[in-house]
Amino acid sequence: MELIRDVDIDPAPLAGKRVAILGYGNQGRAQALNLKDSGIDVVVGLRGGSGSRIEVEAAGIEIALIADAVRSADVVMMLAPDEIHAALYAEIEPNLHEGAALGFSHGLSVRFGFIEPRADLDVFLLAPKGPGTALRSLYQAGKGMLAAWAVAQDASGNARGIALAYGRAIGSGRAGLIATSFSEEAEADLFNEQAVVWGAVPELLIAGFETLVDGGVSPELAYLECVGELKLLADLIEARGIAGMREVISNTAELGAMLGGKRIVDASVRERMKEVLSEVRAGRFAQELRREEDEGYPRLERARAEARKTSLEETLKRLREVED
Ligand SMILES: NC(=O)c1ccc[n+]([C@@H]2O[C@H](COP(=O)([O-])OP(=O)(O)OC[C@H]3O[C@@H](n4cnc5c(N)ncnc54)[C@H](OP(=O)(O)O)[C@@H]3O)[C@@H](O)[C@H]2O)c1
Repeated sequence: MELIRDVDIDPAPLAGKRVAILGYGNQGRAQALNLKDSGIDVVVGLRGGSGSRIEVEAAGIEIALIADAVRSADVVMMLAPDEIHAALYAEIEPNLHEGAALGFSHGLSVRFGFIEPRADLDVFLLAPKGPGTALRSLYQAGKGMLAAWAVAQDASGNARGIALAYGRAIGSGRAGLIATSFSEEAEADLFNEQAVVWGAVPELLIAGFETLVDGGVSPELAYLECVGELKLLADLIEARGIAGMREVISNTAELGAMLGGKRIVDASVRERMKEVLSEVRAGRFAQELRREEDEGYPRLERARAEARKTSLEETLKRLREVED
C-alpha cells in the first residue's frame, strides 16, 4: 500500500485555483476552514436563507449562493448530505465550468449512480477517515487525518494532482493519503457503518448494559463496565493495535476476551456481515437512503427521539450529574 504524504505532494495543481465548498456541515466546515488556513481561495456555497450563513461569516470565509459559488470555482466540493447529491448536482451542473473538478468526500453518490458527472469534468474523491470535528482539531494541532483518495474521471489529465493537492490543503497529507476507488471506498464505508464501528459496536454496548442490568447489576456499574471502558480500548488499539492492546491488559481480561469474544462474534455474525456487504454492493442501502430522504426522514426522526429515552441514556445523565 502506498501512503502519500505532504513531501510527495505537489501543491501546484491547486495554486491560484478557487474552491467552492457546497454545504457547511460536519465536513464542509472543517474542510473550508482548513483550506482557508492553508492559503487556498475558498468560497462556501449556501442555499438562500441558510442557517449556516452567520457561522461562515464569523469564520471570515467568503459566502455565495450555490449557483454563484459554483460559477466562480475551478474545484467544487460536494459536502452536502449524500442523499441530496442527485438534486444538488442537477442544480449546479449548468454552472460548472467546462473542465472544472468535482470533488467528493464519500464515493456513494457516484458509485450508486445518484450522479453521472459530465464528461468534461475531473471527478475525484478525498475522503477523510473520521468526522469533520476531528479533521479540524487535528489540523489546528499541526497534525492531520488519514484520508482515502481516488479518481473517477480524469478529463484534464491532472485529476490525481488535484485530488492529492486538495488532501494536502485540508491537512490529510500530514497523516497520509491512501489510494482507493469510488466503489471500494463507498462499499467499505457503508459496510463499516452498518456492520462494525457505528452500527454493531453501539448495539453490542447496549445489549451488554441491558444484560447486566437485567441480571441485577446497578445501571451505573453496568454503564461504567460496558460503555465507559470503550475509550480506553479505542486508545489502546489506536496506539498499539489489537495484539498490542491484549499485551497490556491483565491475564484475566485477556483470557476472558479470548474465550468470550469469539463466542459472541461467532460464525453466524460473520454470515450476517457477508449479507450486509452483498446488500451494500447491490445498492440496497443506497436505495434506502434515497427513500428515507424522499419520505422526510421518518425512521431517522423516530430513532433519534427514542434513543434519548432509554435507561442507558438516563444512567449517563445521572453519572454526569455526579461527576459535575
Ligand atoms: N460527517 C462526517 O464527518 C463525514 C466523514 C467523512 C465523509 N463525509 C461525507 O461528507 C459529505 C458531507 O457530509 P456531512 O455529514 O458533513 O453533511 P452534513 O453535516 O449533513 O451537511 C450539512 C450541510 O449541507 C447543507 N445542505 C443540506 N441540504 C441541502 C440542500 N438541499 N441544498 C444545499 N445544501 C444543503 C446544509 O445547509 P444549511 O447550512 O443551509 O442547513 C449544511 O450546510 C457526505 O458525502 C458524507 O458522506 C462525512
